[in-house]
Amino acid sequence: MSVLASRLSRIKPSPTIAVTSKARELKAAGRDVIGLGAGEPDFDTPDHIKEAAIEAIRAGDTKYTAVDGTPALKKAIAAKFKRDNDLDYTPEQITVGTGGKQVLYNALMATLDAGDEVIIPAPYWVSYPDMVLLAEGEPVIVPCHQNNGFKLMAEDLEKAITPKTKWVILNSPSNPTGSAYSREDMQALTDVLKRHPHVWVMTDDMYEKLVYDGFEFCTPAQVEPSLYERTLTVNGVSKAYCMTGWRIGYAAGPVELIKAMAKVQSQSTSNPSSISQAAAVAALEGPHDFIASNNEVFKARRDLVVDTLNSCPGLSCHRPEGAFYVYPSCAGVIGKRTPEGKVIETDEDFVAYLLEAEGVAVVQGSAFGLAPYFRISYATSTEALEEACRRIRRACEALS
Ligand SMILES: Cc1ncc(COP(=O)(O)O)c(C=O)c1O
Repeated sequence: MSVLASRLSRIKPSPTIAVTSKARELKAAGRDVIGLGAGEPDFDTPDHIKEAAIEAIRAGDTKYTAVDGTPALKKAIAAKFKRDNDLDYTPEQITVGTGGKQVLYNALMATLDAGDEVIIPAPYWVSYPDMVLLAEGEPVIVPCHQNNGFKLMAEDLEKAITPKTKWVILNSPSNPTGSAYSREDMQALTDVLKRHPHVWVMTDDMYEKLVYDGFEFCTPAQVEPSLYERTLTVNGVSKAYCMTGWRIGYAAGPVELIKAMAKVQSQSTSNPSSISQAAAVAALEGPHDFIASNNEVFKARRDLVVDTLNSCPGLSCHRPEGAFYVYPSCAGVIGKRTPEGKVIETDEDFVAYLLEAEGVAVVQGSAFGLAPYFRISYATSTEALEEACRRIRRACEALS
């Protein structure tokens, strides 16, 4: 009998973490590798946030806190929801966890019974289906095509809903495509959801602040207030505040759900780091001007990458509204031959070729549920990106 639970055989390790580790390994072995796999800003955490953490340590803020967040952080989060999203939440409706990832996991563990269905638009963030499977639910994957900007269409949502549907997960701007829903796009989806009162909405707004060209972010409970009672709005400080290592994520929703999520957390990790929570207060309440200047850099990088990819034979790349990812199609290189004579049959082959031939690490689209594509994270230095773009073009031109 295996020591491992059968539950584990339903899931796989994160493919994005696998690519990042592989790139790191090759670099350590002396290869010249440019990693475009990691989903984190290359910018450092702003100083005023670091100072708040140092101050918290000095002040002895080093003990257990309330399981799902300090009153100070919940107050800062409630103010953020009001300020940015025009949503009213009391502290009892707010939960804080060790990263957005834990918050999403808590929600699924707290709500799914065996066989409950969760609608996940593809391409999706790699963790959604596996978290659903760990909680014994059934992921229902709905493909979203490039010609619709990789967005979920109202009619496809309608068709995917069954009496067993518990949640639909929305993620805008999206990891891996960068696509974001305009108010009109979102309204089309919330109109469908209004007609199905048993379906709850889990909206992952992690990339809310990372939008370009004047795009206006919106979130479902703001667009359709009648969904407020069955929406969990998830967000965090990891991406916008360059705080991926601090591990603070949060969510707001109905009290019964929030209490259940705290129960899961109380029997697993307890409170997130007291010091990180103090830093997150400073992030949410402090100056935000650095986000606009970071976004200028991200936008210029997005344009550099999209323009270069669209000039590479065999690739075509949609220009997304936000996040720091692009999701180019590599359909045009499928069937071509590498200089070594290997035929590229899948996006996985193409990604392996890029790494082998040119030392560029990206993630295959099949990991995100829509092939043949690949994901580039442009949250890396502009110089490295320019060099990576040159290498990708050379790799495409070398195919026959
Ligand atoms: C769409 C999405 N949701 C959630 C997360 C998790 O964020 P955190 O680092 O706060 O756990 C990520 C991180 O990559 C993400 O891309």
